[in-house]
Amino acid sequence: MIIAVDGPAASGKGTIARALARHYGLPHLDTGLLYRAVAATVLRDELDPAQEADAVAATSFDDLLLADEWLRTDEVGKAASVSAHPLVRSALLQRQKRFAMQPNGAILDGRDIGTVIAPDADAKLFVKATPMIRARRRHAELQKCGSTVSLDRVLSDIRARDDRDSTREQAPLVAAPDAAVLDTSFLSVESAIQKAIALVEAQLARKRTTT
Ligand code: CDP
Ligand code: CDP
Repeated sequence: MIIAVDGPAASGKGTIARALARHYGLPHLDTGLLYRAVAATVLRDELDPAQEADAVAATSFDDLLLADEWLRTDEVGKAASVSAHPLVRSALLQRQKRFAMQPNGAILDGRDIGTVIAPDADAKLFVKATPMIRARRRHAELQKCGSTVSLDRVLSDIRARDDRDSTREQAPLVAAPDAAVLDTSFLSVESAIQKAIALVEAQLARKRTTT
């Protein structure tokens, strides 16, 4: 069973994907971390994220890096614009497809799971929330880590990231036509998780009756 969870920054897709992984006992991959690992490697090697060749060279990053907290910082998040390079996306494609094809299945979250990585997924969710609510969530997380960045700044970064992810030519952020859309704007974490499970169950039931 493959479950695809897509959505913009701070929509809650990671929280939902982790909860679904626990609920169904499936392995989970946060694909954003792969792009962040490429970005971190480019920064560490003092290369230029805007140069496709520099970013492609960084796709053979050391897997140990995936556990590094540095990957979750804003600095690395900005350099994750390496995701717009088509050759970076194709270099990371097989790794994500392999993860999805594990014997019992898998849950992947990102931007293009339901559209590109696993277009035949058994269930697809597109998680969204308003930019202001997403900015408030991100701002609260940053404050917890001691950051003094303003809410306005976080909001403009979120808008810039949305714009960058939605307008790139290859694998833009868009809901797959067969994805169930889940707006978490006014949902608690717990209710968002319950709704996500109900939406997945409905898709699985529909699939069972048509096959
Ligand atoms: O945590 P946040 O939602 O801010 O970002 P992330 O999921 O860690 O992803 C970082 C960046 O990687 C995103 O802004 C996207 O540009 C890119 N990404 C992508 O292009 N495709 C994916 N499947 C996952 C992430
Ligand atoms: O993975 P993504 O960037 O889409 O978001 P996340 O890391 O799952 O969630 C961002 C923040 O929003 C976390 O601090 C969550 O606890 C919070 N949140 C949520 O995920 N869902 C809600 N319904 C409310 C808050």
